[in-house]
Amino acid sequence: MRILFVASEVVPWAKTGGLGDVLGALPKTLRQLGQDVSVVLPRYRGIEAGRRRMASLTVPLGDQLRFCPVYETTRRQVRCFFIDYPPYYDRDGLYQAGRRDYPDNAERFALLSLAALELAKRSASPPDVIHCHDWHTALIPAYLKTIYASDPFFHRTRTLLTIHNLAYQGKFPKATLPKISLSARGLNPAQLELSGKLNFLKAGLVFADRINTVSRKYSREILTPEYGSGLEGVLKTRAGELTGILNGADYDQWDPETDRNLAANYSARSPEGKLACKRDLLGTYGLPRDGRRPLVGIVSRLTGQKGFDLLPHAAPEFIAEGFSMVVLGTGEERYARFFRGLQKKFPDYVSVKIMYHDGLAHKVEAGADLFLMPSRYEPCGLNQIYSLKYGTVPVVRATGGLDDTIEDYREDGSGNGFKFSNYDSEELLQTMRRALRVYRSPQRWKHLVGNCMGLDFSWEVAARSYLELYRSLLAKANQGAE
Ligand code: ADP
Ligand code: GLC
Repeated sequence: MRILFVASEVVPWAKTGGLGDVLGALPKTLRQLGQDVSVVLPRYRGIEAGRRRMASLTVPLGDQLRFCPVYETTRRQVRCFFIDYPPYYDRDGLYQAGRRDYPDNAERFALLSLAALELAKRSASPPDVIHCHDWHTALIPAYLKTIYASDPFFHRTRTLLTIHNLAYQGKFPKATLPKISLSARGLNPAQLELSGKLNFLKAGLVFADRINTVSRKYSREILTPEYGSGLEGVLKTRAGELTGILNGADYDQWDPETDRNLAANYSARSPEGKLACKRDLLGTYGLPRDGRRPLVGIVSRLTGQKGFDLLPHAAPEFIAEGFSMVVLGTGEERYARFFRGLQKKFPDYVSVKIMYHDGLAHKVEAGADLFLMPSRYEPCGLNQIYSLKYGTVPVVRATGGLDDTIEDYREDGSGNGFKFSNYDSEELLQTMRRALRVYRSPQRWKHLVGNCMGLDFSWEVAARSYLELYRSLLAKANQGAE
């Protein structure tokens, strides 16, 4: 099967969150399963990889032709193409400068989407499936069903749109429409608009042949007003074509046995190195190297999604009762301010680094005893899955992928973490107290850590589910063509 991935983030070249991790792992795993896989992404500033494959790919965008050199490299047998258009991609950030979205993001990602289609047309045979991710590439299905509708090259090509986060939709003024090569002619404007704005994600939800999200629970949650971000109505009309496939973990990158960022390596069979990682982490964060105190880790984008609004009530309590905490994150200033304030109040127990640092994220995963993700919503969440492998017990709210991956610890010794249901700071506090009681019983804690480390979330399971989904799409395509 020929599968073309198009996305705004791909590890190791571009990442702001889990989207990049997924795009670094799923194509590679599908390749290992024998599929023909390519990935297209922008050639952002600092990407040096690849050789120039094409001097100038012509892409019609708005009323102009854009001429984009294309670079190509092969990584783990996956072909990766970088679309070079310096006026759009040679910038400091992927999406923003100084926490403000670039005003031309609509054009920037419309260009990526159109360039991917034009690039596909330069191959001898068309892709069977174009796999799009989030709003940045959600216009591809709309382009295929409008301006490319009569192009025989794409006649059998089918599209899958994966929703990694429904809250980011790509909303722009309606006047943007002609700039992204979609005219209202031949289109029902309602297909592209929501609440008076052009909405990229909505267009994808309307036009994609299939839709999926990154956990089963989230695929159901988003049909409700609470989680649907205004798109629940559109999603309901497509509920029959909406599924949930849980992300995996890339153990080539996230395994304490081989992780090069750690002070010591360890595994379920020989877990001794974890204590050295904890001491190293405490030292890195300038906290007393007391290995006995339970250490809570947070690695996160600092946004409302992640549930930090529960902490002003709960955190001072659970810290006073015995926990230390290290935080690594970037994002909204109000959360950075809160965490700095906590550090000031508990200088021996809380330490915060407001930065993005991949190596440190690995150190936190390894060195902490517990990993806190009290998310308001969480489409999948990767950090709790990494934590399991590192023997770092997740404390989560039962939402989206957190609910699908974490089973609450029970007195009979079953479970792999601590979970609470309602978005309520008192429930979080009680859950932390429960975790503290288990931590203070070394035998029970050891058993729980063993439960966590014994689990396997490798990508192969998810990749096989995607393959099945692609196949069912193509079966339908062939039926339609007969
Ligand atoms: P989301 O995609 O919503 O941010 P995920 O849990 O799926 O949440 O993935 C987050 C990814 O981003 C993880 O790989 C995590 O380690 C990484 N990450 C988040 N914040 C930082 C940071 N400040 N420094 C380094 N890595 C980070
Ligand atoms: C999004 C979600 C996160 C998910 C990631 C990868 O950023 O917020 O829950 O794990 O995408 O799918």
